[in-house]
Amino acid sequence: MATAAETTPNTPFYKLGGHETMQAIVDRFYDLMDSDPAYAELRAMHAPDLSRMRKSLALFLAGWAGGPRDWLDQNPGRCMMSVHKPYAITKQVAGQWGEAMKRAIADVAPEDAELAKAMGGVLEELALGMGR
Ligand code: HEM
Repeated sequence: MATAAETTPNTPFYKLGGHETMQAIVDRFYDLMDSDPAYAELRAMHAPDLSRMRKSLALFLAGWAGGPRDWLDQNPGRCMMSVHKPYAITKQVAGQWGEAMKRAIADVAPEDAELAKAMGGVLEELALGMGR
């Protein structure tokens, strides 16, 4: 019989609670972006209906954090740079993305807390690095 260690890989995705946690973070992220005027510029870059992005970003983060690779399988050869090429990402709007994501992770408060905080920090760095 498979042990828990065999069926629960040792990656951030599984340690933080899997798809349920990724979806909760992404939903909180878009709720914040949709409601807080501090993120108005970031919001304006997105389509009026965020339901596609709610699914897409949650699946992307799952694969990025070492979980199932659905987004990567559904988007073969597609990289983060090509996804964002059409958008003029200023330092300011990159900062909005990073801040909203860090807040979303803090609000969802997944266990393990240290790992969740580290993930927020890395995502913020990633976003800031995309700003020009
Ligand atoms: C730096 C600031 C960022 C800005 C301004 C930004 C903006 C956007 C916009 C406007 C879209 C298209 C939304 C739509 O179709 O309504 C998008 C898509 C996406 N972004 Fe970002 N983004 C940023 C950072 C990031 C980061 C750091 C990640 C990953 C960790 C990310 C992951 C994605 C994904 C997965 C998609 C959807 C791709 C797809 O399935 O079509 N973004 N982004």
